[in-house]
Amino acid sequence: MALSVLLTFTLLFAVTSTQFLPPYTEDCRTDTYPPNGPTFRGAVGWYTVDLDSPPSKRWDAVITEKKTHLVNMIQAIRDLANAFVPSGKLIELVDVTLPIMADTLPSPFSEEIKGIAAVSGIPLGEVVLFNIFYEVFTVCTSIVAEDHKGNLIHGRNLDFGLFMGWDVKNKSWIISEKLKPLVVNLDFRRNNQTVFKSTNFAGYVGMLTGIKPHTFTLTMNERFSLDGGYIGIMEWVLGKRDGMWMSFLTRSVLEDANSYEEAKTRLAQTKLLAPAYFILGGNQTGQGCIITRSRLLNIDLLEIDVKLGRWYVLETNYDHWEEPLFLDDRRTPAMKCMNQTAQKNISVNTMYDVLSTKPVLNKLTTYTTLMQVSEGKLESYIRDCPNPCMPW
Ligand SMILES: *[C@@H]1O[C@H](CO)[C@@H](O)[C@H](O)[C@H]1NC(C)=O
Ligand SMILES: *[C@@H]1O[C@H](CO)[C@@H](O)[C@H](O)[C@H]1NC(C)=O
Ligand SMILES: *[C@@H]1O[C@H](CO)[C@@H](O)[C@H](O)[C@H]1NC(C)=O
Ligand SMILES: *[C@@H]1O[C@H](CO)[C@@H](O)[C@H](O)[C@H]1NC(C)=O
Ligand SMILES: *[C@@H]1O[C@H](CO)[C@@H](O)[C@H](O)[C@H]1NC(C)=O
Repeated sequence: MALSVLLTFTLLFAVTSTQFLPPYTEDCRTDTYPPNGPTFRGAVGWYTVDLDSPPSKRWDAVITEKKTHLVNMIQAIRDLANAFVPSGKLIELVDVTLPIMADTLPSPFSEEIKGIAAVSGIPLGEVVLFNIFYEVFTVCTSIVAEDHKGNLIHGRNLDFGLFMGWDVKNKSWIISEKLKPLVVNLDFRRNNQTVFKSTNFAGYVGMLTGIKPHTFTLTMNERFSLDGGYIGIMEWVLGKRDGMWMSFLTRSVLEDANSYEEAKTRLAQTKLLAPAYFILGGNQTGQGCIITRSRLLNIDLLEIDVKLGRWYVLETNYDHWEEPLFLDDRRTPAMKCMNQTAQKNISVNTMYDVLSTKPVLNKLTTYTTLMQVSEGKLESYIRDCPNPCMPW
């Protein structure tokens, strides 16, 4: 609970200091799809990652193409670290200690991260940092909905960059802006066949958003409520390594699990380094759930149950049985728009409408992904949120 108090104060400070007056809500948007207008910055390009090539080489094509943007991003992180600790000691620490940590990460993540450092020329410690910081501050909205024919549609906004520097002139989050050019769609292939697809940031080897075509869809959201919280990450750094990084688990599940049930079991039962929400969709009626995780346990499972009128599940960053933080309520507006759409009208198009309604769409939103499991389809769009718009 200490964290949510801290979060409240930080958000309050951000509100007053940037003169934002929440909530900047709006009526549920309609007819926003196909994406167009000022909230749509562009479509996301596709890249192939060949799982048959050695881990140290499989990111070469993506990184070669995105190198300039990745270097800019890392520079922004350095600037923030140096603003925080002006002596430059923080980045020095990252450069010295995190490379050691690269060796402690499980295969193939360790080799992949080293390969990314080698091909980008970015110091290994800084690539490691780039790969762990999403585990900490990703605020998002994820929805799995079932249409009246039993098709499952999974949508998500990925919101990232909170507290990491506000650009007063541009009225934007520095890190969110730098992330947008790094958004890529990835097609992971084995024997030249798609195993799974994801929306990702170039240089990041974990998974926050992905689909195993015709089988399941998966997104991960940050869970702030601490029950031991980042102690797990600290323990890892200090040598106690019996939990799993959350986004490495999602990647392994996308790679290896062959059904909704198998994915659900692994996401619910694997010991983690920090709490998380996993939002999982399957390929048939009733298969959609939010798994609320502590480090050790599956605390709660909320599943679609059309007979009970629960034709969708929706997760932001708060336990579904509790009220969201009053300054950060994206859940109520998103649910309002889902309810207004109704099961008979839910589709990829109307899901995009919901995810385009402020403050579900906000200044942190880097991309929107829409997945349709039965068609094996994943599509994603880079977002903007022109003023007036909530900073989160
Ligand atoms: C402000 O936004 C503009 C347009 O998006 C961009 O070209 C410029 O680099 C941004 N400025 C900073 C300091 O990020
Ligand atoms: C892999 O598959 C793609 C399309 O599915 C095809 O264009 C390409 O030629 C294949 N490559 C090899 C090496 O078989
Ligand atoms: C759903 O997934 C299961 C498990 O992988 C598979 O056996 C089944 O064929 C799939 N159903 C459809 C409709 O794709
Ligand atoms: C949406 O509908 C559900 C189910 O009927 C209801 O529990 C919930 O309160 C509604 N939420 C909003 C914001 O309208
Ligand atoms: C649902 O869709 C139908 C036609 O596709 C449209 O006429 C109707 O207004 C929609 N209803 C809502 C609540 O959006």
